[in-house]
Amino acid sequence: MDMMKKAYSARYFEILEKRKNLPVWVHKEEFLQTLKENQIVLLVGETGSGKTTQIPQFVLEAVLNENPSFGPKGKKWLVGCTQPRRVAAMSVSRRVAEEMDVEIGEEVGYTVRFEDCSSSKTVLKYLTDGMLLREAMADPLLGRYKVIVLDEAHERTLATDLLLGLLKQTLISRPDLKLVVMSATLEADKFHKYFIGVPLIKVPGRLHPVEILYTREPERDYLEAAISTVIQIHMSEPPGDVLVFLTGEEEIEDACRKIISKLGDQVKVVPLYSTLPPAMQQKIFDPTPQAVRKIIVSTNIAETSLTIDGIVYVVDPGFSKQKLYHPDTRVESLLVSPISQASADQRAGRAGRTQPGKCFRLYTQKSFNELEKQSYAEILRSNLANTVLTLKRLGVKNLVRFDLMDAPAPETLARALDDLYHLGALDDDCNLTKTGEMMSEFPLDPQMAKMLIVSPQFNCSNEILSISAMLSVPNCFIRPRGEAQKAADEAKSSFAHIDGDHLTLLNVFHAFLQNNQDSDWCYEKFINYRAMKSAVSVREHLVRIMSRFQIKLCSPGFNSCDYYVNIRKALLAGYFMQVAHLERTGHYLTFRDKDDQVVHLHPSNCLDHKPEWVVYNEYVFTSRNFIRTVTYIRGDWLVDVAPHYYKLANFPNSEAKRVLQKHYKKRKLSEERSCKL
Ligand code: CDP
Ligand code: MG
Repeated sequence: MDMMKKAYSARYFEILEKRKNLPVWVHKEEFLQTLKENQIVLLVGETGSGKTTQIPQFVLEAVLNENPSFGPKGKKWLVGCTQPRRVAAMSVSRRVAEEMDVEIGEEVGYTVRFEDCSSSKTVLKYLTDGMLLREAMADPLLGRYKVIVLDEAHERTLATDLLLGLLKQTLISRPDLKLVVMSATLEADKFHKYFIGVPLIKVPGRLHPVEILYTREPERDYLEAAISTVIQIHMSEPPGDVLVFLTGEEEIEDACRKIISKLGDQVKVVPLYSTLPPAMQQKIFDPTPQAVRKIIVSTNIAETSLTIDGIVYVVDPGFSKQKLYHPDTRVESLLVSPISQASADQRAGRAGRTQPGKCFRLYTQKSFNELEKQSYAEILRSNLANTVLTLKRLGVKNLVRFDLMDAPAPETLARALDDLYHLGALDDDCNLTKTGEMMSEFPLDPQMAKMLIVSPQFNCSNEILSISAMLSVPNCFIRPRGEAQKAADEAKSSFAHIDGDHLTLLNVFHAFLQNNQDSDWCYEKFINYRAMKSAVSVREHLVRIMSRFQIKLCSPGFNSCDYYVNIRKALLAGYFMQVAHLERTGHYLTFRDKDDQVVHLHPSNCLDHKPEWVVYNEYVFTSRNFIRTVTYIRGDWLVDVAPHYYKLANFPNSEAKRVLQKHYKKRKLSEERSCKL
């Protein structure tokens, strides 16, 4: 490329040859011509055809050709390419930097939540769809961008769906802005209906046949079945790498250990999940020596986001972690759930990229036939409080008329508006308040943002910052199965705070800092070092946002008797809608207006007793309904901290309601008394 005067390395030409063989190269001229003549282009292509890595480079080349005077110096423009997953944004941008023979962070960069690897030199930026949405909040016309590529649109993440709706409007006010929407072959028709009259380019993939094998009986334990299938493949199938789909970090690490313990050096086992550190991410693409079989154990990321060459065998247990939302209970949770037929077919397709392959489905043909045809868009499975906040911030007045590909259920929208109103983010006329505006600047759920904003009133913003950071990173406690488990539990109990898990997390955070962020210390204490490091950096990030709004950083004196009381009250000030009450039956009931649910304290809790009231961070459904990360609070605080929400007239009759009524009465009495004095 002209803008970079230095000569290209030998590696550059070597990769260029490979790139030219990717299916999208055949369509390069057609694509560029179409983009020249149209403001929006749809591009549909099989996974692995080169969409993500090549198309943004084609676009960049076109922008530079049309504007020969443009150079990286003094430039005020960008080509942006969104990715639903942070790992994909990081990994793909690194690959593209390599293809263009530049350093990552310079001409080619990436931005993901809590991490920005781009500079004033950057002309091609990969970013998560969530980050582009944040940028749109600060600059609704996205003035810096010349072309935006929305990639993986078929994933139908919330942020991508919102961007589609938003960009449809933005393109009208910005005739110089162009949009490329790229998707895998799923649901291509739906996009065509949403963008009426927009040209569609189809890139045929080069898929080899994939033989599908089902189990005869349903598997009882898909993890064990997956591991034994891998071993069986290795023992009895000809050379070729294996891709196994599992649902999350813990499961994946567990499977990797077990496969290594069985097969040792004969195989190279590589994990792949969203929180994998960048150095490990690159390993996925390292070629393996001959005679060593590579086994990649991955989440859904490898379904369409990242293409790994050389896969011949796919092991598909048929599950993934999916977000589910029940508008009645307002509970959103991540749940291991059966995938759709479309996903199963995508997974199988990964086996046939380079040669004919095999896909081992660890379920019966009958179960396959019973799966949903397509997965539902995320917007239909989410609590929309955050979404509504974002849309309000983007200046969308009429939410119902906002052009979405799939409109959420009206009651879900109503619930979201209701929650935001209770949090003080919206006023009576549904306009964004000052607090709401601030809340929208935090890349956090609205309740956590609210908790941070009001924490100085409880004189503990420093502590609430640390707790928020800890809640925003993966679980810091490592709990290996087998012999070490007892030692791990003992280590954890040394941090335990009897009043609750939030305070336990704070203890861990403080201890980590006191021990100079030492990785050996973490190892000894069964603490996840990476999670702790990211908590430190998340906290720094949040501190910057707090100081932008001049929100005071303060701590109660550690020796003050109110130290923990203040922190617990501040937790409640954000999470007052997530409270449960211990009933005489011995069960907890969540306590919300209109609805309640029987829940159980998650066994991971650190409490030494069952308090009458608890505030909780999340709801998990496994064998039972659990609330996880719980802290003891007092009923009278509810009356103090959130009287606007606990207007009892709205609540169904219950034990908890009667208890609160007493608190209200007491409060009234003491107010009357102090008036008389
Ligand atoms: O987006 P799409 O699925 O169409 O393909 P892509 O991600 O652009 O991948 C094109 C090629 O680049 C594949 O052969 C990948 O294996 C390769 N690639 C790579 O070698 N290293 C990466 N970090 C990313 C992609
Ligand atoms: Mg892609």
